[in-house]
Amino acid sequence: MDYKQLIAEALHEQLSEQLELNEIKDLLEKPKHADHGDVAFPTFQLAKIFRKNPAQIAQDIGSSISSPLIEDKQIVGPYINFFLKKEIVSSAVLKEVVSEKNNFGNLNIGHNSNVPIDMSSPNIAKPMSMGHLRSTVIGNALANIFAKVGYNPIRINHIGDWGTQFGKLITAYKKWGSEEDVRKEPIKELLRLYVKFHAVAEDDPSLLEEGRLWFKNLENGNEEAVELWTWFREESLNEFNKVYDRLNISFDSTNGEAFYNDKMGEVVDLLNSKNLLSSDQGAHIVDLEKYDLNPALIMKSDGATLYMTRDLAAALYRKNTYNFAQSLYVVGQEQSNHFNQLKAVLTEADFDWANDIHHIPFGLITKDGKKLSTRKGKVVLLEDVLTEAHNLALKQIEEKNPDLPNKEIVAEQVGVGAVVFHDLKNDRLNNFDFTIEEVVQFEGETGPYVQYTRARAMSILNKAGVTDFDPSNAFELSDEYSWEVIKLLQEYKHTIKRAYLNYEPSIIAKHAIHLAQAFNRFYANVRVLDEHDEKEARLALVLATTEVLKEDLRILGVEAPNEM
Ligand code: ARG
Repeated sequence: MDYKQLIAEALHEQLSEQLELNEIKDLLEKPKHADHGDVAFPTFQLAKIFRKNPAQIAQDIGSSISSPLIEDKQIVGPYINFFLKKEIVSSAVLKEVVSEKNNFGNLNIGHNSNVPIDMSSPNIAKPMSMGHLRSTVIGNALANIFAKVGYNPIRINHIGDWGTQFGKLITAYKKWGSEEDVRKEPIKELLRLYVKFHAVAEDDPSLLEEGRLWFKNLENGNEEAVELWTWFREESLNEFNKVYDRLNISFDSTNGEAFYNDKMGEVVDLLNSKNLLSSDQGAHIVDLEKYDLNPALIMKSDGATLYMTRDLAAALYRKNTYNFAQSLYVVGQEQSNHFNQLKAVLTEADFDWANDIHHIPFGLITKDGKKLSTRKGKVVLLEDVLTEAHNLALKQIEEKNPDLPNKEIVAEQVGVGAVVFHDLKNDRLNNFDFTIEEVVQFEGETGPYVQYTRARAMSILNKAGVTDFDPSNAFELSDEYSWEVIKLLQEYKHTIKRAYLNYEPSIIAKHAIHLAQAFNRFYANVRVLDEHDEKEARLALVLATTEVLKEDLRILGVEAPNEM
């Protein structure tokens, strides 16, 4: 049920000569306070047409508008405020949810066209940072949002597995490393070697030369270099996969930077054939002055290609492979300049699809005031953060519900879910700091709060012994507490669409929090299990809430345990 549409139609009957139906619909507002009604129509726009003041217009047309949906109208200055017939709206909305279940809110905007989403993309031999976590969970949520509105998302992990740093790493490993140590704690050990390389190179610059040499060897396919690189890559991926498994996230492609090694010639040829390359002290660049950007560096004087070159190759590859409708890059805002350059070079090369490339930036998160990877010089792995969250969740479950079966599984769903939810509930561009204690709380605007609310709603349904409703029934509710829940359910399609248009998972997270809050107020004030004329409708509202909360959580990549 789209009550805005129905109210717009009622208004249109009076205003068909002045405004289009869609114009009326766009003008409708949602009043900030419930005592100003459910929908409001401002008349300012009509003042010119009618040559009257808006308040007068509201008086004139207000009285003649009628619809079976309207319970009451109030004219307040230039506004016509409508109060809806709650019984009709609630029945229509609940019918939809109980019959559509998790398909409720689906839209067909995308017509199944492809949308590659570049996400996560950590660098080999380094710990995954909080930024990579953000990219992973925001990318995953966007993929779910795009699927919900009818696109086919393709999750791509563009692993940072190529570049001069691998020459340095090989050098350091050969000097100071051992197979045993790398096997024991791959990421920590590889990072130690890398850090040591830079420390020693400060006093002994010849080391840098050695590093360059080993990278050249790697590029030329030297057996020892390739073997070490392959091994480091594998060990790193194994570590990253531990995090992905815990987040329940998988990728459709893990073609990283190295995948494009044999596709760089094409990029250089293409730019050459379009006369875009110029030389700057032996390096090849694309001038981007007319875009107010620094030149894009495509090839160094020694023939080495760069991050940008690999991204150009990747963009072309993705266009050819997926013929995308949009191509997203979920990467921190510190790389905005890089993506502006990428788009500018593609635009210069006359690819009109450069406009379909969207960098989705996000802000920086810190834990306890510090960046994740370096605490007192020691590395804090993302995995340890998830384990800390797991343990805190377990502790709370032990206190609240010691007899719960599968406590460990639920603690993982709650702990990991808490970290993910917290990451997604803030506008993605915000910078913020978090402490694990605040994230894993069962009260407040947290993931566990939403999960807990849903589990409670599930237990009500259990007690009542219902799992399903016949959608041909009427579910008429008119109390103010139900109404707040019904309105949030009714808005769901708009919420999904806004999240999609703004590339903003926090819109879904906020919907989940508001729905959980409205449901808890309902449950505190309305006796659901008492015998009452409205009992079935109330239970249908409970069921609808469990469905939509679960769908919100699923989109965010958070599990919804039935008991906790
Ligand atoms: N590996 C890069 C980093 O950690 C992110 C890669 C983002 N994706 C891309 N196509 N450039 O900074």
